[in-house]
Amino acid sequence: MHPSQVVVFGASGDLTLRKLMPALASLAGKGRPAAGFSVLGVARREKSDDGFRREIREALPDELHAAFDGLADRVHYLPGDVGVPEDLERLSARLDELPGGREGGRLYYLSLRPDLFAPTVALLSGAGLLQMREGEKQTWRRVIVEKPFGHDYGSAEALNRQLHESLREDQIYRIDHYLGKETVQNLLGFRFHNAIFEPVWNRHHVEHIQITVAEDLGMERGRAGYYDGTGALRDMLQNHMLQVLALATMEPPTSLEADAVRSQKINLLRSLHPPGVPAALRQSVRAQYVAGEIGGKAVPGYLEEEGVPGGSTTETYVAIRAEIDSWRWAGVPILLRHGKRLPRKFTEVRVQFRVPPLQLFNRPADMDQDEYRAKLRDGSLCQTRPNVLTLTIQPREAIHLSFGVKAPGSAMTMVPSTMSFDYRERFGSNTAPAYERLLLDALSGDPTLFLHADEIAASWRFADAYRRAWASSEAPPPATYTAGSWGPEAADELFHGCEGGWGQG
Ligand code: BG6
Repeated sequence: MHPSQVVVFGASGDLTLRKLMPALASLAGKGRPAAGFSVLGVARREKSDDGFRREIREALPDELHAAFDGLADRVHYLPGDVGVPEDLERLSARLDELPGGREGGRLYYLSLRPDLFAPTVALLSGAGLLQMREGEKQTWRRVIVEKPFGHDYGSAEALNRQLHESLREDQIYRIDHYLGKETVQNLLGFRFHNAIFEPVWNRHHVEHIQITVAEDLGMERGRAGYYDGTGALRDMLQNHMLQVLALATMEPPTSLEADAVRSQKINLLRSLHPPGVPAALRQSVRAQYVAGEIGGKAVPGYLEEEGVPGGSTTETYVAIRAEIDSWRWAGVPILLRHGKRLPRKFTEVRVQFRVPPLQLFNRPADMDQDEYRAKLRDGSLCQTRPNVLTLTIQPREAIHLSFGVKAPGSAMTMVPSTMSFDYRERFGSNTAPAYERLLLDALSGDPTLFLHADEIAASWRFADAYRRAWASSEAPPPATYTAGSWGPEAADELFHGCEGGWGQG
Protein backbone atom coordinates (compact mmCIF):
# COMPACT_ATOMS: atom_id res chain seq x y z
CA MET A 1 0.00 0.00 0.00
CA HIS A 2 1.23 3.47 -0.87
CA PRO A 3 0.90 6.30 1.65
CA SER A 4 -1.82 8.82 0.81
CA GLN A 5 -1.45 12.55 0.42
CA VAL A 6 -3.66 15.11 2.11
CA VAL A 7 -3.60 18.45 0.31
CA VAL A 8 -5.13 21.30 2.31
CA PHE A 9 -6.11 24.41 0.34
CA GLY A 10 -6.50 27.38 2.66
CA ALA A 11 -3.72 26.10 4.91
CA SER A 12 -3.25 29.46 6.65
CA GLY A 13 -6.83 29.51 7.88
CA ASP A 14 -8.29 29.01 11.28
CA LEU A 15 -9.92 25.68 10.40
CA THR A 16 -6.58 24.16 9.37
CA LEU A 17 -4.85 25.08 12.59
CA ARG A 18 -7.74 24.49 14.98
CA LYS A 19 -9.41 21.41 13.55
CA LEU A 20 -7.64 19.73 10.63
CA MET A 21 -4.08 19.58 11.92
CA PRO A 22 -5.06 18.35 15.40
CA ALA A 23 -7.17 15.65 13.74
CA LEU A 24 -4.35 14.64 11.37
CA ALA A 25 -1.76 14.63 14.18
CA SER A 26 -4.01 12.47 16.31
CA LEU A 27 -4.60 10.02 13.44
CA ALA A 28 -0.85 9.81 12.77
CA GLY A 29 -0.25 9.16 16.48
CA LYS A 30 -2.64 6.21 16.33
CA GLY A 31 -0.99 4.88 13.14
CA ARG A 32 -4.13 5.39 11.08
CA PRO A 33 -4.64 4.75 8.25
CA ALA A 34 -2.09 1.95 8.30
CA ALA A 35 -0.35 2.96 5.06
CA GLY A 36 0.29 6.46 6.48
CA PHE A 37 -0.04 9.85 4.82
CA SER A 38 1.77 13.08 4.16
CA VAL A 39 0.29 16.57 4.27
CA LEU A 40 0.81 19.45 1.87
CA GLY A 41 -0.60 22.81 2.98
CA VAL A 42 -1.27 25.28 0.18
CA ALA A 43 -2.02 28.98 0.67
CA ARG A 44 -0.94 32.30 -0.76
CA ARG A 45 1.16 33.40 2.18
CA GLU A 46 4.95 32.84 1.88
CA LYS A 47 6.10 30.26 4.42
CA SER A 48 8.71 27.50 4.60
CA ASP A 49 7.99 23.88 5.51
CA ASP A 50 9.64 24.54 8.87
CA GLY A 51 7.68 27.74 9.45
CA PHE A 52 4.43 25.87 8.73
CA ARG A 53 5.40 23.04 11.09
CA ARG A 54 6.28 25.48 13.84
CA GLU A 55 2.99 27.32 13.45
CA ILE A 56 1.02 24.06 13.66
CA ARG A 57 2.92 22.79 16.68
CA GLU A 58 2.34 26.02 18.56
CA ALA A 59 -1.39 25.85 17.88
CA LEU A 60 -1.70 22.21 18.99
CA PRO A 61 -2.73 21.26 22.49
CA ASP A 62 0.18 19.82 24.51
CA GLU A 63 -1.18 16.27 24.42
CA LEU A 64 -0.82 16.18 20.62
CA HIS A 65 2.82 17.37 20.49
CA ALA A 66 4.31 13.88 20.59
CA ALA A 67 1.95 12.64 17.87
CA PHE A 68 2.74 15.67 15.72
CA ASP A 69 6.50 15.20 16.15
CA GLY A 70 6.09 11.78 14.53
CA LEU A 71 4.27 13.33 11.57
CA ALA A 72 6.14 16.65 11.23
CA ASP A 73 8.68 15.60 8.57
CA ARG A 74 5.77 14.50 6.37
CA VAL A 75 4.11 17.93 6.65
CA HIS A 76 4.98 20.37 3.88
CA TYR A 77 3.92 23.75 2.63
CA LEU A 78 3.61 25.28 -0.82
CA PRO A 79 3.00 29.00 -1.17
CA GLY A 80 0.84 29.61 -4.20
CA ASP A 81 -2.47 30.12 -5.87
CA VAL A 82 -3.96 27.42 -8.09
CA GLY A 83 -5.32 30.22 -10.31
CA VAL A 84 -1.72 30.94 -11.41
CA PRO A 85 -0.59 28.37 -14.02
CA GLU A 86 3.03 28.21 -12.75
CA ASP A 87 1.83 27.62 -9.19
CA LEU A 88 -0.43 24.83 -10.38
CA GLU A 89 2.51 23.21 -12.16
CA ARG A 90 4.62 23.52 -9.02
CA LEU A 91 1.83 21.90 -7.03
CA SER A 92 1.66 18.98 -9.41
CA ALA A 93 5.44 18.51 -9.35
CA ARG A 94 5.57 18.76 -5.54
CA LEU A 95 2.86 16.11 -5.14
CA ASP A 96 4.74 13.77 -7.46
CA GLU A 97 7.84 14.10 -5.27
CA LEU A 98 6.09 13.50 -1.93
CA PRO A 99 5.73 9.92 -0.60
CA GLY A 100 2.99 8.10 -2.49
CA GLY A 101 3.61 10.25 -5.57
CA ARG A 102 1.15 9.42 -8.34
CA GLU A 103 0.83 5.85 -7.14
CA GLY A 104 -1.11 6.57 -3.94
CA GLY A 105 -4.44 8.19 -3.16
CA ARG A 106 -4.92 11.94 -2.82
CA LEU A 107 -7.38 13.76 -0.64
CA TYR A 108 -7.87 17.43 -1.46
CA TYR A 109 -9.42 19.48 1.34
CA LEU A 110 -11.05 22.72 0.20
CA SER A 111 -10.85 24.89 3.30
CA LEU A 112 -11.49 27.91 1.12
CA ARG A 113 -13.96 30.72 0.55
CA PRO A 114 -17.07 29.07 -0.91
CA ASP A 115 -16.82 31.01 -4.18
CA LEU A 116 -13.45 29.28 -4.76
CA PHE A 117 -14.77 25.69 -4.46
CA ALA A 118 -15.86 25.28 -8.09
CA PRO A 119 -12.97 27.18 -9.75
CA THR A 120 -10.38 25.29 -7.68
CA VAL A 121 -11.85 21.93 -8.66
CA ALA A 122 -11.98 22.97 -12.33
CA LEU A 123 -8.30 24.03 -12.24
CA LEU A 124 -7.19 20.85 -10.49
CA SER A 125 -9.09 18.81 -13.04
CA GLY A 126 -7.60 20.77 -15.94
CA ALA A 127 -4.13 19.98 -14.57
CA GLY A 128 -4.95 16.26 -14.48
CA LEU A 129 -4.84 16.20 -10.68
CA LEU A 130 -8.28 14.67 -10.12
CA GLN A 131 -8.14 11.73 -12.49
CA MET A 132 -7.31 8.29 -11.17
CA ARG A 133 -5.36 5.90 -13.36
CA GLU A 134 -7.47 3.40 -15.27
CA GLY A 135 -7.92 0.15 -13.36
CA GLU A 136 -5.70 1.35 -10.48
CA LYS A 137 -8.00 1.86 -7.56
CA GLN A 138 -5.23 2.87 -5.20
CA THR A 139 -4.69 6.06 -7.24
CA TRP A 140 -8.03 7.44 -5.98
CA ARG A 141 -8.64 11.19 -5.96
CA ARG A 142 -11.20 12.64 -3.54
CA VAL A 143 -12.24 16.17 -2.65
CA ILE A 144 -13.62 17.32 0.69
CA VAL A 145 -15.81 20.39 0.32
CA GLU A 146 -16.36 22.49 3.45
CA LYS A 147 -19.61 24.23 4.30
CA PRO A 148 -21.43 26.39 3.40
CA PHE A 149 -22.44 24.37 0.35
CA GLY A 150 -24.29 27.11 -1.54
CA HIS A 151 -26.36 29.81 0.11
CA ASP A 152 -29.75 28.59 -1.12
CA TYR A 153 -31.27 25.81 -3.22
CA GLY A 154 -30.32 27.37 -6.57
CA SER A 155 -26.70 28.10 -5.69
CA ALA A 156 -26.20 24.64 -4.15
CA GLU A 157 -27.58 23.00 -7.31
CA ALA A 158 -25.30 25.18 -9.44
CA LEU A 159 -22.28 24.23 -7.30
CA ASN A 160 -23.17 20.55 -7.62
CA ARG A 161 -23.41 20.87 -11.40
CA GLN A 162 -20.03 22.61 -11.55
CA LEU A 163 -18.36 19.99 -9.35
CA HIS A 164 -19.89 17.18 -11.39
CA GLU A 165 -18.21 18.58 -14.52
CA SER A 166 -14.88 17.43 -13.05
CA LEU A 167 -15.78 14.84 -10.43
CA ARG A 168 -17.96 11.77 -10.04
CA GLU A 169 -20.39 11.90 -7.09
CA ASP A 170 -18.30 9.23 -5.32
CA GLN A 171 -15.28 11.55 -5.37
CA ILE A 172 -17.10 14.41 -3.61
CA TYR A 173 -17.07 14.44 0.19
CA ARG A 174 -19.35 17.26 1.41
CA ILE A 175 -18.55 17.68 5.05
CA ASP A 176 -20.92 18.39 7.93
CA HIS A 177 -18.74 18.02 11.01
CA TYR A 178 -21.75 17.19 13.22
CA LEU A 179 -21.88 13.78 11.54
CA GLY A 180 -18.37 13.10 12.85
CA LYS A 181 -19.54 13.47 16.47
CA GLU A 182 -19.86 10.12 18.27
CA THR A 183 -23.13 11.14 19.86
CA VAL A 184 -24.67 12.10 16.53
CA GLN A 185 -23.72 8.68 15.18
CA ASN A 186 -25.13 7.18 18.35
CA LEU A 187 -28.56 8.46 17.31
CA LEU A 188 -28.47 5.72 14.66
CA GLY A 189 -27.12 3.12 17.06
CA PHE A 190 -29.55 3.99 19.82
CA ARG A 191 -32.59 3.91 17.57
CA PHE A 192 -31.82 0.90 15.43
CA HIS A 193 -30.03 -1.37 17.87
CA ASN A 194 -32.58 -1.02 20.66
CA ALA A 195 -35.84 -2.35 19.30
CA ILE A 196 -37.78 -1.28 22.40
CA PHE A 197 -37.95 2.33 21.23
CA GLU A 198 -39.17 1.69 17.69
CA PRO A 199 -42.83 0.94 18.60
CA VAL A 200 -43.14 4.30 20.38
CA TRP A 201 -41.09 6.36 17.91
CA ASN A 202 -44.02 7.87 16.05
CA ARG A 203 -47.03 10.20 16.13
CA HIS A 204 -49.05 7.84 18.30
CA HIS A 205 -46.65 8.15 21.24
CA VAL A 206 -44.51 11.24 20.66
CA GLU A 207 -46.05 14.60 21.50
CA HIS A 208 -43.25 16.75 20.13
CA ILE A 209 -39.51 16.74 19.40
CA GLN A 210 -37.11 19.56 20.25
CA ILE A 211 -33.62 20.09 18.95
CA THR A 212 -31.50 22.81 20.50
CA VAL A 213 -28.03 23.91 19.50
CA ALA A 214 -27.09 26.64 21.97
CA GLU A 215 -23.75 28.45 21.87
CA ASP A 216 -22.25 30.99 24.19
CA LEU A 217 -19.81 32.13 21.48
CA GLY A 218 -20.39 35.31 19.52
CA MET A 219 -18.20 36.75 16.77
CA GLU A 220 -14.78 35.95 18.26
CA ARG A 221 -11.74 35.33 16.04
CA GLY A 222 -12.96 37.69 13.32
CA ARG A 223 -15.91 35.48 12.38
CA ALA A 224 -18.25 38.36 11.58
CA GLY A 225 -16.96 38.64 8.00
CA TYR A 226 -18.34 35.21 7.18
CA TYR A 227 -21.26 35.20 9.61
CA ASP A 228 -22.91 38.45 8.68
CA GLY A 229 -23.61 37.26 5.15
CA THR A 230 -24.86 33.91 6.47
CA GLY A 231 -26.92 34.13 9.69
CA ALA A 232 -28.15 31.46 12.06
CA LEU A 233 -30.57 29.76 9.65
CA ARG A 234 -27.93 29.10 7.00
CA ASP A 235 -24.98 28.64 9.35
CA MET A 236 -26.49 25.99 11.65
CA LEU A 237 -30.10 25.10 10.99
CA GLN A 238 -29.94 24.23 7.30
CA ASN A 239 -27.04 21.83 7.84
CA HIS A 240 -26.08 20.60 11.33
CA MET A 241 -29.55 20.77 12.86
CA LEU A 242 -31.37 19.18 9.93
CA GLN A 243 -28.80 16.38 9.89
CA VAL A 244 -29.43 15.71 13.57
CA LEU A 245 -33.17 15.84 12.90
CA ALA A 246 -32.84 13.44 9.97
CA LEU A 247 -30.98 10.87 12.07
CA ALA A 248 -33.49 11.22 14.91
CA THR A 249 -36.57 10.78 12.72
CA MET A 250 -35.66 8.86 9.53
CA GLU A 251 -36.92 5.36 8.74
CA PRO A 252 -34.61 2.43 9.59
CA PRO A 253 -31.98 1.82 6.89
CA THR A 254 -31.62 -1.73 5.55
CA SER A 255 -27.86 -1.69 6.20
CA LEU A 256 -25.13 0.69 7.31
CA GLU A 257 -23.88 1.10 3.73
CA ALA A 258 -23.58 4.75 2.69
CA ASP A 259 -26.39 4.50 0.14
CA ALA A 260 -28.80 2.82 2.56
CA VAL A 261 -28.29 5.41 5.32
CA ARG A 262 -28.17 8.40 3.03
CA SER A 263 -31.29 7.46 1.06
CA GLN A 264 -33.33 7.34 4.29
CA LYS A 265 -31.97 10.73 5.29
CA ILE A 266 -32.83 12.09 1.86
CA ASN A 267 -36.43 10.79 2.19
CA LEU A 268 -36.81 12.39 5.59
CA LEU A 269 -35.36 15.74 4.50
CA ARG A 270 -37.64 15.72 1.47
CA SER A 271 -40.64 15.18 3.72
CA LEU A 272 -39.95 18.33 5.78
CA HIS A 273 -42.90 20.59 5.05
CA PRO A 274 -41.79 23.89 3.45
CA PRO A 275 -44.43 26.38 4.66
CA GLY A 276 -45.80 29.28 2.62
CA VAL A 277 -44.99 32.84 3.68
CA PRO A 278 -47.78 33.41 6.28
CA ALA A 279 -47.24 30.02 7.95
CA ALA A 280 -43.45 30.44 7.92
CA LEU A 281 -43.81 33.83 9.62
CA ARG A 282 -46.18 32.39 12.24
CA GLN A 283 -43.96 29.40 12.91
CA SER A 284 -40.55 31.00 13.09
CA VAL A 285 -38.70 33.54 15.19
CA ARG A 286 -35.44 35.21 14.23
CA ALA A 287 -33.54 37.53 16.48
CA GLN A 288 -30.25 39.31 17.09
CA TYR A 289 -28.45 39.68 20.40
CA VAL A 290 -27.87 42.98 22.17
CA ALA A 291 -25.19 43.58 24.80
CA GLY A 292 -25.46 41.48 27.94
CA GLU A 293 -23.46 39.26 30.25
CA ILE A 294 -22.33 35.65 30.00
CA GLY A 295 -20.73 33.87 32.95
CA GLY A 296 -20.35 37.19 34.77
CA LYS A 297 -18.54 38.83 31.81
CA ALA A 298 -19.97 41.73 29.84
CA VAL A 299 -20.28 40.95 26.10
CA PRO A 300 -21.10 43.34 23.28
CA GLY A 301 -24.25 43.26 21.18
CA TYR A 302 -24.03 41.82 17.66
CA LEU A 303 -24.00 45.27 16.07
CA GLU A 304 -21.03 46.27 18.25
CA GLU A 305 -18.98 43.17 17.38
CA GLU A 306 -15.87 43.78 15.29
CA GLY A 307 -16.55 43.49 11.58
CA VAL A 308 -20.37 43.66 11.74
CA PRO A 309 -21.69 46.33 9.38
CA GLY A 310 -23.83 49.03 11.03
CA GLY A 311 -27.57 48.35 10.83
CA SER A 312 -27.08 44.66 9.95
CA THR A 313 -30.30 42.64 10.34
CA THR A 314 -28.54 39.25 10.25
CA GLU A 315 -30.18 36.83 12.67
CA THR A 316 -28.02 35.26 15.38
CA TYR A 317 -30.96 33.24 16.73
CA VAL A 318 -33.55 31.17 14.96
CA ALA A 319 -36.41 29.04 16.27
CA ILE A 320 -38.84 27.14 14.09
CA ARG A 321 -41.90 24.97 14.62
CA ALA A 322 -41.66 22.52 11.75
CA GLU A 323 -43.67 19.58 10.46
CA ILE A 324 -42.73 16.35 8.77
CA ASP A 325 -45.15 15.14 6.11
CA SER A 326 -44.92 11.40 6.72
CA TRP A 327 -47.20 8.74 8.19
CA ARG A 328 -44.80 8.34 11.09
CA TRP A 329 -44.63 12.02 12.05
CA ALA A 330 -47.63 13.90 10.60
CA GLY A 331 -48.96 16.31 13.23
CA VAL A 332 -45.96 16.01 15.59
CA PRO A 333 -44.44 19.47 16.14
CA ILE A 334 -40.70 19.59 15.55
CA LEU A 335 -39.18 22.53 17.40
CA LEU A 336 -35.73 23.64 16.31
CA ARG A 337 -33.75 26.33 18.08
CA HIS A 338 -30.26 27.74 17.67
CA GLY A 339 -28.64 30.88 18.96
CA LYS A 340 -25.29 32.51 19.56
CA ARG A 341 -24.51 34.18 22.91
CA LEU A 342 -26.92 32.05 24.91
CA PRO A 343 -25.96 31.24 28.51
CA ARG A 344 -23.99 28.09 27.70
CA LYS A 345 -23.08 25.67 24.97
CA PHE A 346 -25.21 22.56 24.61
CA THR A 347 -26.76 20.49 21.88
CA GLU A 348 -29.58 18.10 22.58
CA VAL A 349 -32.52 16.25 21.13
CA ARG A 350 -35.56 15.96 23.42
CA VAL A 351 -38.34 13.56 22.61
CA GLN A 352 -41.42 14.39 24.65
CA PHE A 353 -43.83 11.46 24.89
CA ARG A 354 -47.57 11.78 25.24
CA VAL A 355 -49.39 11.72 28.56
CA PRO A 356 -51.63 8.82 29.60
CA PRO A 357 -55.22 9.12 28.38
CA LEU A 358 -56.53 9.19 31.96
CA GLN A 359 -54.80 11.25 34.63
CA LEU A 360 -55.12 9.33 37.87
CA PHE A 361 -52.52 11.16 39.94
CA ASN A 362 -51.47 14.51 41.36
CA ARG A 363 -54.91 16.08 41.61
CA PRO A 364 -54.53 19.30 43.67
CA ALA A 365 -55.88 18.73 47.17
CA ASP A 366 -58.43 21.53 46.86
CA MET A 367 -59.92 20.32 43.55
CA ASP A 368 -62.58 17.67 43.18
CA GLN A 369 -62.34 14.91 40.58
CA ASP A 370 -64.89 16.43 38.17
CA GLU A 371 -63.30 19.86 38.17
CA TYR A 372 -59.87 18.24 37.69
CA ARG A 373 -61.09 16.26 34.68
CA ALA A 374 -62.81 19.27 33.13
CA LYS A 375 -59.73 21.48 33.51
CA LEU A 376 -57.43 18.87 32.03
CA ARG A 377 -59.81 18.48 29.11
CA ASP A 378 -60.17 22.18 28.30
CA GLY A 379 -56.44 22.75 28.73
CA SER A 380 -56.74 25.28 31.58
CA LEU A 381 -54.69 22.83 33.65
CA CYS A 382 -51.84 20.77 32.20
CA GLN A 383 -50.90 17.26 33.23
CA THR A 384 -47.28 16.84 34.15
CA ARG A 385 -45.38 15.30 31.25
CA PRO A 386 -43.11 12.75 32.85
CA ASN A 387 -41.72 10.89 29.85
CA VAL A 388 -38.90 12.67 28.07
CA LEU A 389 -35.98 11.06 26.32
CA THR A 390 -33.06 13.47 26.11
CA LEU A 391 -30.09 12.72 23.91
CA THR A 392 -27.35 15.18 24.79
CA ILE A 393 -24.87 15.53 21.97
CA GLN A 394 -22.51 17.97 23.68
CA PRO A 395 -20.76 19.05 25.82
CA ARG A 396 -21.39 16.16 28.26
CA GLU A 397 -22.54 13.32 26.02
CA ALA A 398 -25.40 11.52 27.68
CA ILE A 399 -28.85 9.98 27.36
CA HIS A 400 -31.56 10.49 30.00
CA LEU A 401 -34.99 8.92 30.17
CA SER A 402 -37.30 10.55 32.67
CA PHE A 403 -40.40 8.97 34.18
CA GLY A 404 -42.63 9.42 37.19
CA VAL A 405 -42.29 7.32 40.36
CA LYS A 406 -44.41 7.19 43.47
CA ALA A 407 -43.05 9.36 46.24
CA PRO A 408 -42.87 7.59 49.61
CA GLY A 409 -45.90 8.17 51.81
CA SER A 410 -49.56 7.37 52.08
CA ALA A 411 -50.61 9.66 49.19
CA MET A 412 -50.34 8.47 45.57
CA THR A 413 -48.04 11.33 44.54
CA MET A 414 -45.94 10.85 41.45
CA VAL A 415 -42.63 12.69 41.17
CA PRO A 416 -40.08 12.80 38.35
CA SER A 417 -37.07 10.51 38.23
CA THR A 418 -34.42 9.72 35.59
CA MET A 419 -32.40 6.82 34.13
CA SER A 420 -29.14 8.00 32.63
CA PHE A 421 -26.22 6.97 30.48
CA ASP A 422 -23.12 9.15 30.55
CA TYR A 423 -20.49 8.63 27.88
CA ARG A 424 -17.54 9.55 30.08
CA GLU A 425 -18.69 7.45 33.03
CA ARG A 426 -19.30 4.45 30.77
CA PHE A 427 -16.24 4.68 28.53
CA GLY A 428 -13.87 6.69 30.68
CA SER A 429 -12.77 9.10 27.97
CA ASN A 430 -13.92 11.98 25.89
CA THR A 431 -15.26 11.32 22.41
CA ALA A 432 -12.76 11.63 19.55
CA PRO A 433 -12.99 14.97 17.72
CA ALA A 434 -15.38 14.95 14.77
CA TYR A 435 -12.79 15.92 12.17
CA GLU A 436 -10.57 12.98 13.09
CA ARG A 437 -13.27 10.46 12.28
CA LEU A 438 -14.30 12.27 9.11
CA LEU A 439 -10.75 12.59 7.76
CA LEU A 440 -10.12 8.91 8.43
CA ASP A 441 -13.34 7.98 6.61
CA ALA A 442 -12.45 10.15 3.64
CA LEU A 443 -8.96 8.60 3.48
CA SER A 444 -10.54 5.14 3.64
CA GLY A 445 -13.21 5.94 1.03
CA ASP A 446 -16.25 5.66 3.28
CA PRO A 447 -18.76 8.41 2.42
CA THR A 448 -21.49 7.36 4.91
CA LEU A 449 -20.90 10.35 7.18
CA PHE A 450 -20.67 12.83 4.32
CA LEU A 451 -23.59 14.51 2.59
CA HIS A 452 -25.12 13.42 -0.67
CA ALA A 453 -26.05 16.22 -3.11
CA ASP A 454 -29.75 15.38 -2.67
CA GLU A 455 -29.59 15.85 1.13
CA ILE A 456 -28.24 19.33 0.63
CA ALA A 457 -30.86 20.18 -1.98
CA ALA A 458 -33.72 19.00 0.25
CA SER A 459 -32.33 20.90 3.26
CA TRP A 460 -32.12 24.11 1.27
CA ARG A 461 -35.64 23.72 -0.07
CA PHE A 462 -36.88 23.69 3.54
CA ALA A 463 -34.61 26.48 4.84
CA ASP A 464 -35.35 28.69 1.84
CA ALA A 465 -39.05 28.76 2.77
CA TYR A 466 -38.16 30.70 5.93
CA ARG A 467 -35.63 32.95 4.27
CA ARG A 468 -38.22 33.82 1.61
CA ALA A 469 -40.78 34.62 4.31
CA TRP A 470 -38.32 36.82 6.23
CA ALA A 471 -37.48 38.72 3.05
CA SER A 472 -41.18 39.37 2.29
CA SER A 473 -42.91 42.69 2.91
CA GLU A 474 -45.14 41.14 5.61
CA ALA A 475 -42.12 40.09 7.71
CA PRO A 476 -41.57 41.92 10.99
CA PRO A 477 -37.98 43.03 11.67
CA PRO A 478 -35.84 40.55 13.64
CA ALA A 479 -36.54 40.51 17.38
CA THR A 480 -33.74 41.17 19.87
CA TYR A 481 -32.55 39.23 22.90
CA THR A 482 -30.04 40.05 25.58
CA ALA A 483 -26.74 38.18 25.29
CA GLY A 484 -26.69 35.63 28.09
CA SER A 485 -30.47 35.09 28.03
CA TRP A 486 -32.18 32.08 26.43
CA GLY A 487 -33.38 34.14 23.47
CA PRO A 488 -36.46 36.18 22.62
CA GLU A 489 -39.73 35.53 24.45
CA ALA A 490 -41.51 35.12 21.12
CA ALA A 491 -39.75 31.74 20.75
CA ASP A 492 -41.72 30.41 23.75
CA GLU A 493 -44.92 31.05 21.84
CA LEU A 494 -43.95 28.38 19.31
CA PHE A 495 -45.20 25.93 21.96
CA HIS A 496 -48.96 25.55 22.08
CA GLY A 497 -51.33 24.55 24.86
CA CYS A 498 -49.78 22.13 27.30
CA GLU A 499 -46.70 21.34 25.18
CA GLY A 500 -44.43 22.99 27.75
CA GLY A 501 -41.35 24.91 26.68
CA TRP A 502 -37.72 24.69 25.67
CA GLY A 503 -35.42 22.38 27.61
CA GLN A 504 -32.42 24.10 29.21
CA GLY A 505 -29.66 21.53 28.80
C1 BG6 B 1 -19.89 25.72 12.48
C2 BG6 B 1 -20.55 27.07 12.42
O1 BG6 B 1 -20.27 24.95 11.37
O2 BG6 B 1 -20.27 25.05 13.67
C3 BG6 B 1 -20.19 27.89 13.65
O3 BG6 B 1 -20.14 27.76 11.24
C4 BG6 B 1 -20.48 27.12 14.91
O4 BG6 B 1 -20.89 29.13 13.65
C5 BG6 B 1 -19.88 25.71 14.86
O5 BG6 B 1 -19.95 27.83 16.02
C6 BG6 B 1 -20.34 24.89 16.05
O6 BG6 B 1 -19.69 23.66 16.04
P1 BG6 B 1 -19.54 22.80 17.39
O7 BG6 B 1 -18.92 21.52 16.96
O8 BG6 B 1 -18.68 23.62 18.31
O9 BG6 B 1 -20.93 22.64 17.92
